[in-house]
Amino acid sequence: MDIIFSGIQPTGNLHLGNYLGAIRNWVQLQKDKFCIFCVVDLHAITVWQAPDKLRQHTREVVAAMIASGIDSEKQIIFNQSRVSGHAELAWIFNCVSRIGWLNRMTQFKEKAGRNRENASVGLFAYPNLMAADILLYKGTQVPVGADQKQHLELTRDIAQKFNSDFGIDFFPIVEPLILGEATRVMSLRDGMSKMSKSDPSELSRVTMVDDSDLISKKIRKAKTDPNPLPHDVRSLEGRPEAQNLMAIFAALSDTKLEIVCERFGGLPFSKFKEELIDLAVAVLSPIQSEMVRLLNDPAELDRILSVGSERANALAYPTMQEIKKIVGLLSE
Ligand code: TYM
Repeated sequence: MDIIFSGIQPTGNLHLGNYLGAIRNWVQLQKDKFCIFCVVDLHAITVWQAPDKLRQHTREVVAAMIASGIDSEKQIIFNQSRVSGHAELAWIFNCVSRIGWLNRMTQFKEKAGRNRENASVGLFAYPNLMAADILLYKGTQVPVGADQKQHLELTRDIAQKFNSDFGIDFFPIVEPLILGEATRVMSLRDGMSKMSKSDPSELSRVTMVDDSDLISKKIRKAKTDPNPLPHDVRSLEGRPEAQNLMAIFAALSDTKLEIVCERFGGLPFSKFKEELIDLAVAVLSPIQSEMVRLLNDPAELDRILSVGSERANALAYPTMQEIKKIVGLLSE
């Protein structure tokens, strides 16, 4: 059976990249697959988080998932720290994974920056925890944005090494699902850098709580180049801003980039932006207002997380017992 697992960090500023690279695809996948969606709070604290903000951001992620259309009754939505198997399996994987493997992780290099010696040990070991998240449920497919691909390759390496170290075919080899036309949404201020939660410029990202005025302002101010839009995908090469805005349009309208080029090729950015604003507002505004409504009832969001965590734990616990047995750790 296919088991879909994915996660989002509760670090605030959920943006169009998180929506198009992840959540929007999850909404489609849940139609015919069993899915587990995790708010990865243990990942978030690899960089210091203010406790009140962490609680608020955790609820915000749940609200975003539900407002986008994830069915919390059919699928599992929960927060990672509530299921102790994540941290337990991560420790076992700390002992399976190799320092050399982690040293190659580009996300660590980007996040730690120049001051590597001062990064938390958790930030370095982060991909081992991510492998544990998925493999604790024997997840087979992981829908993510393109930036997570390397972490999923590491997850495969860890699963393979565990299986061969213990001479058992226990963990599946996970498959990344990098779907749609906006697998790497770029900053609206710079088509060469990824749209991110931590970019100091608010104008670099459309967030999931922006109202229609903010959405139009940010798109109107988005960086462009001086030429009209191209007629075909090939001519997008070397035009990162055009590529980004057209890919966003394609993803928001569930169509191919090619079709967007055919439709808008030859138009100036200003005209295209007006169309993009209308589309973005039509898709995002209902989600935004539903998020605001849900966030007004934090008790209900907490209830959803609590029920989800129990269901997740019911799946994780027996697997964790089996893993302990395989490794030789005495337990019940
Ligand atoms: P996080 O919280 O950074 O991002 C959540 C999801 O959003 C995607 N994403 C993007 N997609 C397209 N364009 C962008 N600019 C963009 N920015 C973010 C990410 O690819 C991701 O799918 N390590 C993960 C969280 C995680 C996880 C897991 C994911 C922890 N355990 C297990 C899958 C399975 C992360 O930091 O995502």
